[in-house]
Amino acid sequence: MRNTALPTLLAAGLAAAAITTSAQALAYGEGDFFTRVGAAHVNPKSDNGTLDGGIDVDVDSDTTLGFTLGYRFHDKLGVELLAALPFEHDISLADGAIDASTKHLPPTLTLQYYPLGGTDSQFQPYAGVGLNYTTFFSEEVDIDGVDLDLDDSWGLAGQLGLDVLLDDNWALNAAAWYIDIDTDASLSGIGEMGTVNIDPWAFMAGISYRF
Ligand code: NI
Repeated sequence: MRNTALPTLLAAGLAAAAITTSAQALAYGEGDFFTRVGAAHVNPKSDNGTLDGGIDVDVDSDTTLGFTLGYRFHDKLGVELLAALPFEHDISLADGAIDASTKHLPPTLTLQYYPLGGTDSQFQPYAGVGLNYTTFFSEEVDIDGVDLDLDDSWGLAGQLGLDVLLDDNWALNAAAWYIDIDTDASLSGIGEMGTVNIDPWAFMAGISYRF
């Protein structure tokens, strides 16, 4: 009795630990709240349109701090909101003849599918579709006495991402969004000048934390 009790206890303890570990490893899924934080880079497409008078528009890229908040309402389905510190983009008009710039915030809400959600896979890819709202502010144009105004934009967004799980809470994360951002530009005293198509890829690399 004395000879078998200790191994039995040990075996029972190890089995309990294994069950607990696998139960926690399986917990990537329903009921998780999560946040992702990282460097976020917004890279507009290369040709951003032509304003009235044949003025070419070229919007540069920018990098800032991005963060998201999300919830998994099903092992394989979740929602995530992308937020960020303001992006600031230099804008070149008429092949660099006129400098301009704008700041913007592009909150994006996506419905996500996690094909390996609910399994103990360490690699958890996801894809999402959703809606973007972009608001522009602090627009500036290098013409004396003239103000630039960029209208707010609503558009569709698509998303791909990957969590590489490190433990029950932390993961490495990389994600990309394609966002349809089109904004009407106007100059004070002149009026509407046409549409600027920014349509960027946004990339974020950093960490995920779920709780
Ligand atoms: Ni567009």
